[in-house]
Amino acid sequence: MNELEAIIAEESARDGPITFARFMALALYHPTLGYYAGGGVGREPLGWEGDYFTSGDVHPLFGWCVGKQLAQMWELLGRPPRFDVIELGAGRGLLARDVWRYALERAPEWAAALRYTLADRAPVGSPLRAAREKRLTTEIAALGVPTGALAWVDEVEACADPPATGCLLSNELVDALPVHILTIADGALAEVYVTVDAATGRLTEARGPLSTPELASYLDEYRIPWSTYPDGWRCEVCLEAGPWLRSAAARLARGFVLTLDYGDTARALYTRDRRRGTLAVYTRHQLGERPLAHPGRQDLTAHVNFSALVRAGRLAELRLAGLTTQERFLRGLGLMEEAAALGTRLYPAAAFAERHTDRGQADYLRYKALLGAAATLVNPHGLGGFRVLVQHRGVPGAGRTLLGLRG
Ligand SMILES: C[S@@+](CC[C@H](N)C(=O)[O-])C[C@H]1O[C@@H](n2cnc3c(N)ncnc32)[C@H](O)[C@@H]1O
Repeated sequence: MNELEAIIAEESARDGPITFARFMALALYHPTLGYYAGGGVGREPLGWEGDYFTSGDVHPLFGWCVGKQLAQMWELLGRPPRFDVIELGAGRGLLARDVWRYALERAPEWAAALRYTLADRAPVGSPLRAAREKRLTTEIAALGVPTGALAWVDEVEACADPPATGCLLSNELVDALPVHILTIADGALAEVYVTVDAATGRLTEARGPLSTPELASYLDEYRIPWSTYPDGWRCEVCLEAGPWLRSAAARLARGFVLTLDYGDTARALYTRDRRRGTLAVYTRHQLGERPLAHPGRQDLTAHVNFSALVRAGRLAELRLAGLTTQERFLRGLGLMEEAAALGTRLYPAAAFAERHTDRGQADYLRYKALLGAAATLVNPHGLGGFRVLVQHRGVPGAGRTLLGLRG
């Protein structure tokens, strides 16, 4: 039993079974031992060396295209002298780096207005956070980003400035928020708890009544016909997503909320066929099967209910600009054309006339790899199937105009 498992077991022995959401909050966000705090050993969970990759790992063109979208948002807002991007759950800052790259190379006037704040729960002062800040600061300085145009905070509430004009951006944050697990037992909804197995002393699941009335009405609010589903059916419910969006939206005076993640609308997510829900466990790029094992050392994640984000946005006076797929979003922003242009610039000997030479062969392979990375970002069965939600405050007509929503 690792140290965090012992802490969780102790809490459960003291207070009784804990909800899965409480377990997940401790496993991912315990301030020193949690997965996103470095698991007690300062380990980087993200990227090729970690447990899973995100779009920013596949190719910088992802952030480049997001940058292109943000630049257009600045135009739509009337080119304000200051445009804030607050990236929530920024992780290592890959997106920030590549957005800046776009800004400095392609949109210098926007770059002069851009202030970029990275918000992530990785605790300030932790070795993980320090390593990330050091690496990004070096990369950003090499690009020529003006000092003072980039800041770090640990949560969006910590942004000191008054509500911003700009965009609140997140990639794969919401899927990392703690979820409750519901199941159907004897035709009624029940909740899955985490407790200690008396025989083995290890963490195990237990069923119990719903921990909060909000859970009882959640599926009904989206008209999910769960009472026709079989016993044993289960699903995840993220009660934190709405409050998270609302508190983020409070930071926005005028502009956009751009949310990229895997998931779907409630009706497509909570179907009869998806009997086991969407909870997933990742370690070293392998899907695991034991969510309660090794807390703090493996990733836990669940698909996002985008209907809940749309609803929470409405309550926070955000309007829906559009909900699309990552494939359509990136194609609308010209990803494939950008990839071809970049390939031609970086690997000129890939052209047919030179392909018989050694350099031509090498360049051709690199050119094909670049196009392959772009194709990965829009693969409808993978990253391209992710959802992109755009909400706005005070930008009428945005849904019809934004490049990423054109598709
Ligand atoms: C799945 S990772 C994605 C990281 C990064 N956006 C990327 O695409 O590589 C989720 C990140 O969200 C952060 N996070 C979770 N909840 C948060 C919150 N309420 N505020 C800020 N960051 C949060 C976690 O610490 C983690 O780094």
